Amino acid sequence: MDKQVIANRIQKDMELFEPFSQTPCHGITRLPFTIEVRKCVDVLSNRMERAGLTVREDAAGNLYGRLEGSEPNLPALVIGSHFDSVKSGGNFDGMAGIVVGIEVARMLRDSGVVLRNPIEIMGTHDEEGMRFGTGFFGTKAMMGEIDDDYLRRLKDSDGVSLRDAMICYGLSPDKIKDAARDYQKEIAAFIEVHIEQGPVLEDAQKQLGLVTGIVGMQRYLVTVTGRPDHAGTTPMDLRIDAMACASKVISQMTGWAKEAGGEGTVATVGFVQVAPNAVNIIPQEVVFSVDVRSKEECCIDQIVGSLRAELEAVCGEKGATFKIDEKLKVAPASLDEKLLAMLEKGCGDLGLSYMRMPSGAGHDSLQTAPKIDTAMVFVPSKDGRSHCPVEWTEYSDLANAAHLVYETLVSNYR
Ligand code: GLV
Ligand code: MN
Ligand code: MN
Repeated sequence: MDKQVIANRIQKDMELFEPFSQTPCHGITRLPFTIEVRKCVDVLSNRMERAGLTVREDAAGNLYGRLEGSEPNLPALVIGSHFDSVKSGGNFDGMAGIVVGIEVARMLRDSGVVLRNPIEIMGTHDEEGMRFGTGFFGTKAMMGEIDDDYLRRLKDSDGVSLRDAMICYGLSPDKIKDAARDYQKEIAAFIEVHIEQGPVLEDAQKQLGLVTGIVGMQRYLVTVTGRPDHAGTTPMDLRIDAMACASKVISQMTGWAKEAGGEGTVATVGFVQVAPNAVNIIPQEVVFSVDVRSKEECCIDQIVGSLRAELEAVCGEKGATFKIDEKLKVAPASLDEKLLAMLEKGCGDLGLSYMRMPSGAGHDSLQTAPKIDTAMVFVPSKDGRSHCPVEWTEYSDLANAAHLVYETLVSNYR
């Protein structure tokens, strides 16, 4: 295999997806169930077909490209990641893993090797949870975890339900259960290649990371409701200021995360909305997101417990009210040791430097790992930057990941 040819093919594919953004020149904004995703999926589908894969879209909008193996009844090896993005993110988060998967299929085709198992290259839909405050919609649907209540309950910031967004996108929400796989019979392994999104590999000068486990995550949307009044005439002790309450709680989040300790424990408030949002009106309502992660679930629970207790105390004292909507709750996951050992051997055979490492980012693999043997390969991120427009990964490093996955499949599944 000529590494330069592989890197060039990956670059060509990666560049095809750059235009599908709602924020051209300001990074990639490819939110789920939008025209940008639809156009991206059309091109992806074309690239899969040209690599010799049989393509289908499931009821959740996930895309699969399948290559049959020599033994028709064996379960598939699924190689996947997501095609949606955050707001003004980079072109590599998610897409790199799908493009590397397609490249592995091309490498198999070019070398004439037929694996015993089928392979499926999967593009997952709405991993980031950017529009509905959630996460892992496509893989949750694949695992049979999405029902009609979920589709009706979750709404975006314009009040559009997930159900209605699916309809606008051309999917039938009533068929969501069709996206569920009989994974025990149909899927032998889930392998995800992803950019690291942090500085560890670059700092350690390693070509690849082999992921041992992924942090658990909980996401909430908190609404604090006060009373809109005149900012000049209402004395400080007679106002019910939703912002004064919310900001007091938010400002403690960093302290709670530090206090909880534990591996990979972090807490973030990344979204805040104020109403009526005017200079001379006391805020009536503040809505904010909470994203808490840790390798140790008890640390997440402790932070969320502090959040609830403080909301009760602060709002109670001021006469405000609050509501906490749970959007996502996933336990931390360990990845499969057997697959890790295969990948480790592959790195050794190919002379690629690597290190074992945990993931602080959430991934589709977090959703699959409890039930399907799952492995992740990390590729270095320049300066550790991600979820921003400057996100960058060298195509030659992505070629290393493609080479590793190809060799691992050929050595173990031929
Ligand atoms: C996804 O990238 C996440 O970790 O939030
Ligand atoms: Mn991301
Ligand atoms: Mn990602």
